[in-house]
Order: sequence, then structure tokens, then C-alpha cells
Amino acid sequence: MDFTLTEEQRMIRDVAREFAQQEIAPVAAQHDESGEFPLETVRKMGELGLLGIEVPEEYGGAGLDTVAYVLALEEISKADAAHGTIMSVCNSLFCHGLLHFGTEEQKQKFLVPVASGKWIGAYSLTEPGSGSDAAGMRTRAVQEGNEYIINGRKSWVTNGPVADAIVLFAVTDPRAEPRHRGITAFVIETDKPGFVQGKVEPKLGIRASATCECLYENYRCPAENRLGAEGEGFKIAMTVLDAGRIGIAAQAVGIAQAAYEASVQYTKERYAFGRPIAEFQAIQFKLADMATRIEAARLLTLNAALAKERSKKTGERYTKLASMAKLFASETAMWVAHQAVQIHGGMGYSKELPIERYFRDAKITEIYEGTSEIQRLVIARNVLREIGHAL
Ligand code: CAA
Repeated sequence: MDFTLTEEQRMIRDVAREFAQQEIAPVAAQHDESGEFPLETVRKMGELGLLGIEVPEEYGGAGLDTVAYVLALEEISKADAAHGTIMSVCNSLFCHGLLHFGTEEQKQKFLVPVASGKWIGAYSLTEPGSGSDAAGMRTRAVQEGNEYIINGRKSWVTNGPVADAIVLFAVTDPRAEPRHRGITAFVIETDKPGFVQGKVEPKLGIRASATCECLYENYRCPAENRLGAEGEGFKIAMTVLDAGRIGIAAQAVGIAQAAYEASVQYTKERYAFGRPIAEFQAIQFKLADMATRIEAARLLTLNAALAKERSKKTGERYTKLASMAKLFASETAMWVAHQAVQIHGGMGYSKELPIERYFRDAKITEIYEGTSEIQRLVIARNVLREIGHAL
């Protein structure tokens, strides 16, 4: 596996790093405290091409590859995981779906404004009664002439309160067998009647990334805004999540790296028993394990990114590698953040330092875009399929 970076990949990583450290890091704690969506910095990220990194330039994006995407997302998430969430939803969950399944008209109407940062995109699969069991959704779309009438309630919509357009999944054929073949994808315009923003979720972490319920009350969706064919929605949802999970892996690596770097610095400055705590073996072993796990998580993430790049030529799925990267990186972020709090002692528990924020932010990476349990299920199913034992 060749992980040598190209000139373009290095360039976007450096642009993201500089922007993250100069513009995002100084406001991260304040946005975490207030929960206010950081519209100003998000718009600037759009101007830098960070919201549509893999989208071709003709559709408003930066025209780069998946490796460039994960490098940039790690840098942004290292400064602030909430910005990382907003960036990953726009890039993977919205743009990826439109780029691969959208018509030319849909690309012009929805992809161009989101990839260029003028609009905010979102993705809406989860419902109050269906999270891990995504095919158990109940939101209904009934065709009437040239429109679909949509009714239902979606939950945990990241970017929901500020989204201009949302990729939504709804049941068009409740009698379909198996049930996932009755699900269809749509692109929703949030300024149209029948779209109602529900309660905003108060969250443990990534507090500046707005999350809400979205209600559909006789929302009339033009048939031309259907994404893909009727009944293809579940496969579109899963294909998009494969890409999304690589992004969450990169976000997790960024959070872990931030917690690790702060810890290394602290161990040099903090004295106990007359010595910097870096000189105690109990601390050294923690730093060694943190560094090793982060390196492994980063390599798995790059490996999945390269597999996604290859799939652009071969069409081969990279589901297993994306889930492996997401599983390992998210559990690494949680573990590293936990060690960082422990190394910092009372200061790790205090709001004076960002360590407790890393700890709170890391947790979501083990939950959204498929819990760690779902990633293990996906990996196991793929491993068994490879030896001819499909479940
Ligand atoms: N790519 C393409 N197709 C896929 C696929 C993939 N990765 N995974 C499954 N499929 C296809 C299967 O081939 C099958 O197709 P056929 O009709 O041809 O048989 C079909 O989809 C059904 O597959 P399964 O039988 O495996 O489906 P399942 O009901 O057992 O569910 C699951 C599988 C992996 C558990 C899936 O439901 C899942 O991923 N659940 C987690 C959902 C999730 O991640 N939600 C997060 C939402 S986004 C979010 O977090 C909020 C946010 O805004 C950030």
C-alpha cells in the first residue's frame, strides 16, 4: 500500500490545517458552550472548497480525491469536531449521494450550491422508532401525479436546523418484500410548505453542529426530485454510508490526535514528586499506546480511502474497509480521550481546557453513521461472505 501523498493532497491538508488552527480553534470552545451553529466559519470552509472536496470542479467542488478528503477532515476535526461533523455531512452524506445517483438537473440544482458552500446539505434516514434497523422506517411517500406526498417524522438530522436541502428516505411501497425494496430516496427543499423543523437536540458533544427532528406534513415533493429509482433508496442509503463512515473515521483520528498532542505537552509541563510527569513510566506507557493506536487508526482510514478511490475504477464495494476504519478509529478516539482526561487529572475534568470537550465529542463517533455494534455486524457479514458463508 503506497501512502505517499501527492502535491494536491499535501496542499489541501495544509490549507485545512492553517484554516482550522487560525479560524476554528479560537472559536471552538465558545461554540461548544453556546451550541450556536458556526455559520461564519462554515461559509469560509465552503469558499476554500472544503464542503465538496471530491466533487468535480464543474459541479462547484474541489475536484480532489478521498485521501485529500480524509486528510482535510482530520485537520478540521482536530481543531473542532463539530465543524468536522458539518463538513462530513455536506461532503459524504449529501454530495456523495447526489454525485453518484443524481440526474444532471439534480446536480445543477442541489449539488452545485452545497459543494460550493452556498447551501448546507443534510441526510435523513433515522426515525424515532428506527436507528440501527434503518429499513424499519415508517415515513411514507405516496405518488400523486407528478408529485410524492410525504408524511412522517425523522430524527437526529445533523445540519437539519440550517439545511437548505436534505436527502430523505421514505417508504413508497409498504408491501415490498423484503421491506428495504420499498424504500425510495428524495431530495427535499426545506423552504417549501409541509417541511417543519422539530425539536433541536441538546447534545453531550459536537454541540455546535445543529441536530433536530424534521417533520413532513403533506410535503409535496416533485417527482423530478426523486433520487434514483423507486425501491432503490435503501441501497443508496447504504452506499452513501460506506463513504460517510470513512469520513467519521477521519474525524475520530482528528479528535484523538488533538487529545494526544495536548497530553504530550502537559506531561512535559506538569511536575509531580519533583519531576515532569513525562518521566514516569506509567505516563510513558499511556503515551506510547495512544500514539500507536492513533497511527493504526490513521492507516486504516487511509486504506479505506484508497479502496474508495479504486472503486471509482472497478466499481468494487469498500464496505468492509470503511466499517473497519470507522470502528477502530472511533473506539481509538474514545480510548485516547479517556487517557487524556486521566493524564490531565483534575484539569482534564475542568472546562478550562479542551480535554473534556474531546472526551464528550469522541463519544458520538461510536454512535452515528452506524454504532460500533453495527460496524462489527457489517464486518462479520462481509468476512463470512468472503469464505462463502453468507448470512
Ligand atoms: N452498499 C450497497 N448495498 C448494500 C450495502 C452497501 N454497503 N449494504 C447492504 N446493501 C444492500 C444488500 O445487498 C441488500 O440488497 P438486496 O435487496 O439486493 O438483497 C439490501 O441492501 C439489504 O441489506 P441487508 O439485508 O444487509 O439489510 P439489513 O436490514 O439487514 O440492514 C444494516 C443492514 C447494516 C444493519 C443497516 O441497516 C445499517 O447500516 N444500519 C445502521 C444505519 C445507520 O448507520 N444509521 C445512521 C444514519 S446517519 C446518522 O447517523 C445521522 C447523521 O446525520 C450523521
